[in-house]
Amino acid sequence: MPAAESAAEVLVERDGAVAVLTLNRPKALNALSVPVMKALAAALESAETDEAVRAIVLAGSPRAFAAGADIGEMKDLAGSGEAEAALSEHLARWDKVGRCPKPTIAAVSGFALGGGCELALACDLIVASETAVFGQPEVQIGVIPGAGGTQRLTKAVGKALAMDMVLTGRRLTAREALAAGLVSRVVAPEALLDEAKGLARRIAELAPLAVRAAKAAAAAAADRQLDAGLARERGLFYRLFDTADQKEGMRAFAEKRPPLFKGK
Ligand code: CAA
Repeated sequence: MPAAESAAEVLVERDGAVAVLTLNRPKALNALSVPVMKALAAALESAETDEAVRAIVLAGSPRAFAAGADIGEMKDLAGSGEAEAALSEHLARWDKVGRCPKPTIAAVSGFALGGGCELALACDLIVASETAVFGQPEVQIGVIPGAGGTQRLTKAVGKALAMDMVLTGRRLTAREALAAGLVSRVVAPEALLDEAKGLARRIAELAPLAVRAAKAAAAAAADRQLDAGLARERGLFYRLFDTADQKEGMRAFAEKRPPLFKGK
């Protein structure tokens, strides 16, 4: 029998050799605040160290996998120094997902935007509901992706589409994401969790050492030069906190009005 354990921000369910971690902040569309990402990192660590867990599913709620990092936590950061001090441990939690030695499957329903898209991209596989929407809208709020989006998205879908998304905030539907190679399966909303768990169970039944080696080998191709790219992205991300446009963009979101950017 699956056992459910409720930590406030992330629900953890064990179903045989599969751990299902569910982001649980639906009213804020699972905005990835520091408490949410801390809870996720702790749940992931438990799943990593538990020898009986062979595959991990990461899910959100029907309306949103996650609508990004929490803009409210970032909007008033005074400059690049303060942003780096406040956010470096936070952003490192996305890297932790990317470095998980066990297979990880994102089950995406609804919005996967900004840090939410980056969290899905940090997983090995993405299974999408027909309702899924992927995007990196950071430029619309005066910043850029800061949790790996510029790097992993470019590797996943190629330069042209990644540039289109990162420079304009263009969103992809589930079908577009499938055609672009961002996701590997699209299913009806009601079938999403079963499909992701079924996939995880199939992986969990295979030879564990071979699965681990397969993941490490494929990651060596997919993640080539990833660290240098992530460092470059993160440096540029922090520097945007020295600009007035970052304050304007994030405050405008919080105040539910369009931003007025000045290039300063
Ligand atoms: N941070 C904080 N709160 C968020 C949020 C976020 N990223 N996304 C949504 N919310 C909150 C809203 O503020 C709102 O809260 P209230 O009910 O208290 O007002 C609630 O979730 C519901 O959102 P909306 O009312 O905006 O719902 P909508 O259906 O009108 O729009 C949406 C949905 C298009 C996803 C819109 O919420 C949106 O654009 N969200 C922000 C997307 C974004 O810019 N993400 C990038 C964040 S920056 C980032 O992630 C940096 C990085 O790389 C690490």
